[in-house]
Amino acid sequence: MCGIVGYTGPRQAYPVILKGLKRLEYRGYDSAGIALVNSDGLNVYKKKGKVAVLEEEMENLHINSHIGIGHTRWATHGEPSDRNAHPHVSQSGNIAMIHNGIIENYSQIKKELLKKGYTFKSDTDTEVLLNFIDDILQKNECTLEEAVRIALRRIVGAYCILLVHKDDPETIIAARKGSPLVIGIGKGEHFLASDASPIIEYTKEVVYVNDYEIAIVKPDELILKNLGNDKQTPFITKLNMEMAAIEKGGYDHFMLKEIFEQPTTIYDCLRGRLDAEQGTIVMGGIQKYADQIMNAPRIIIIACGTSWHAGLVAEYIIEETCRIPVEVEYASEFRYRNPVVHKGDVIIAISQSGETADTLVAIEKAKEQGAVIVGIVNVVGSSIARASHTGSYTHAGPEIGVASTKAFTAQLAVLTMVALKIGYEKGTLNKERFMYLCKELSEIPAKAEQVLKLDDHIKEIALKYKDAPDFLYLGRGYNFPVALEGALKLKEISYIHAEGYPAAEMKHGPIALVTSELPVVFVATKDAYHEKVVSNMQEIKARKGIVISVITEGDTVSPTLSNDVITIPAADEIVAPMLSVIPLQLLAYHIGVAKGYDVDKPRNLAKSVTVE
Ligand code: G6P
Repeated sequence: MCGIVGYTGPRQAYPVILKGLKRLEYRGYDSAGIALVNSDGLNVYKKKGKVAVLEEEMENLHINSHIGIGHTRWATHGEPSDRNAHPHVSQSGNIAMIHNGIIENYSQIKKELLKKGYTFKSDTDTEVLLNFIDDILQKNECTLEEAVRIALRRIVGAYCILLVHKDDPETIIAARKGSPLVIGIGKGEHFLASDASPIIEYTKEVVYVNDYEIAIVKPDELILKNLGNDKQTPFITKLNMEMAAIEKGGYDHFMLKEIFEQPTTIYDCLRGRLDAEQGTIVMGGIQKYADQIMNAPRIIIIACGTSWHAGLVAEYIIEETCRIPVEVEYASEFRYRNPVVHKGDVIIAISQSGETADTLVAIEKAKEQGAVIVGIVNVVGSSIARASHTGSYTHAGPEIGVASTKAFTAQLAVLTMVALKIGYEKGTLNKERFMYLCKELSEIPAKAEQVLKLDDHIKEIALKYKDAPDFLYLGRGYNFPVALEGALKLKEISYIHAEGYPAAEMKHGPIALVTSELPVVFVATKDAYHEKVVSNMQEIKARKGIVISVITEGDTVSPTLSNDVITIPAADEIVAPMLSVIPLQLLAYHIGVAKGYDVDKPRNLAKSVTVE
C-alpha cells in the first residue's frame, strides 16, 4: 500500500524514480509525486491520479538532480487529491518526505503542533509527522537523522519514510516500522524502494531494512542504526529475480500473463520438492518443525483476501489428510479479539506479499502466546517470512496484477505438499493414497496448460454475460472456497456484485435472488459431492436461473442443466481447486477488459496492504 522510491548517486534521479514508481504502481495509484534536490533546493511535483498523469505534467521539465524521492499513493488519511499527494514539504520549506503506512497518534501530535502555530496544507497523517520532525530539528539544532530518531520514538503506527533536506544534495534519511524498505547497493549509488522491482535493473545486491532501523543513505555510504543510535551491520542479500519477471512479455496485462504463467509457477513450486515416482516430499523448513506440526493440538490458518481462500482449501486438505483440527481466521479479526492460542498450536500464515499488516500483527500476537509460526509466503525476505519461525516459499515470482492469481495456485501447491508430507509421516495418510496424491499433484502443471486452452471459449462466455449486474458462485467441499475466490475476482476486476456461497446453503437465502437474469457459476468438478451439486443446479434451473458450470470431462449430466459449460481435466478433489479456479480467473479478466476497466489496477485496491 503506497509505493516509495529513492535514489542518490551519479545518474539523473528523475528517470530512475519515475520508472521505479511505474513498477510500484500496483501498490496504489490515487496520486503520485516526486521531490528532487539540487542547487535550487527542493523541487516537488505531485498530481492526483496515476503515475502517467505526473509524467505528463513533468514532461517538459529538465531538472538536473542526482537525488530524489518518489511516491505512489493508496489514500488513507485524506481523499485522493493534489494537496494530499506525497511528497509533503515541511512548513519551514526545508524537508520533503514520503510515507507508506499510518501514524495512529497523529491527531494528538497535530494538536500540539497547531498550538505552536503550525498550519497544514493537507489532511494527511504524513504531514503531521513531517512537521513534528521539522519542529524537533529547529528546536534542537540537531541533524535531520537525529530529529527523525527523536520523533519516531513517539510514533505509534506503521511507517516507511524517506526524507530529503533542501541543503543536502547527497543524503536520504529512511526509516521503517511495519512497512517494507529495500535498499539496492550500486557502485557509488543507492536505490531505495518498497520492493525490489525498481532496483533489479541496476543491482542485485540489496539490504532489507528491519523494523525500528534508520538508514542514512549517501551515494557511496549506507549506515544503518537502531532507534537507540547504535550502528547495525547491513546484511547484504543477492536478489534472485530477473527483469523478465516484472515485464508483461507480450501480454496485454500483467493479470493475463500471470494467469498464463500458472503451469510454470505451479511446476516451479513443486520442483525439487515433490518426487512423485519415489514418493518423497522434501521441504526443509517444514521438516525442521515436522514433530511440532504433526503433534499440534490445532492448526490456525491466518490470512487475508485471496490468501484466506487458499487457507480455506487447506483446512479441508489438512483435516482430511492429517486429522488435525484446523481453523481459518481473517487476520484482521484474529488480531483484535482475544483469541485462545495455546503453546504448541501451529499458526500457518499465508501471504503473497509477506507484508500484509493485519497478518503480520496477528502472527506476532500468536507468537507471544507460544504458537509456532509457519509462513507460506511468495516474496522472499518479506516481513512475514522473517517473522515466521519456519515456512516455505511459494516461488511464484513477482505478482504485479493487483488481483491475485498465480500466487493462489502456488499457495495451494505448497499447502498440499505440507499436508501430504505431514499426513504421511503422521500415518493418517496411507502409502497408497499418499503415492496417488503425489502423482495427482505432479500432473497439475500439465493439466493447467490444458485448462488455459479454453481461453477463447471462456472469453465468449464473458462477452455474453458482461452486462449482468450480479453473479452468484456456488460450490461444495473443496470447491466452495474456489467459488468464493471466483466471486472475489469478479468483484475486484469488473466491479460486478458477486457472491460466493456453499451450494447447499443457497436455499437458506440467496436462492431468493435467482431470476432468469442471474448468472450462477457452479464450480462442479467431479468429487464426493458431485450428485448433490447437480441437484443444486436443478434447483437453479427450475427457477430459470442462468447456469454456467465448470465441470470435469466425462460429466454428461451437468451440461444438460447448464447454459454454458467449461470442461476441465479430471483430477482428485484435493488438487482440483488449482484447476477449477483458472476458468474463474479468466472469466473475471475478460469481463473486466470487455467493460473497459484497468484490470491490473482496479479502482480503490492495492496489492500490498501495509495498513490495517
Ligand atoms: C490485497 C490484494 C489481494 C490479496 C490480499 C492479501 O487485498 O489486493 O489480492 O489477496 O491483499 O494479500 P497477501 O499479500 O497477504 O496475500
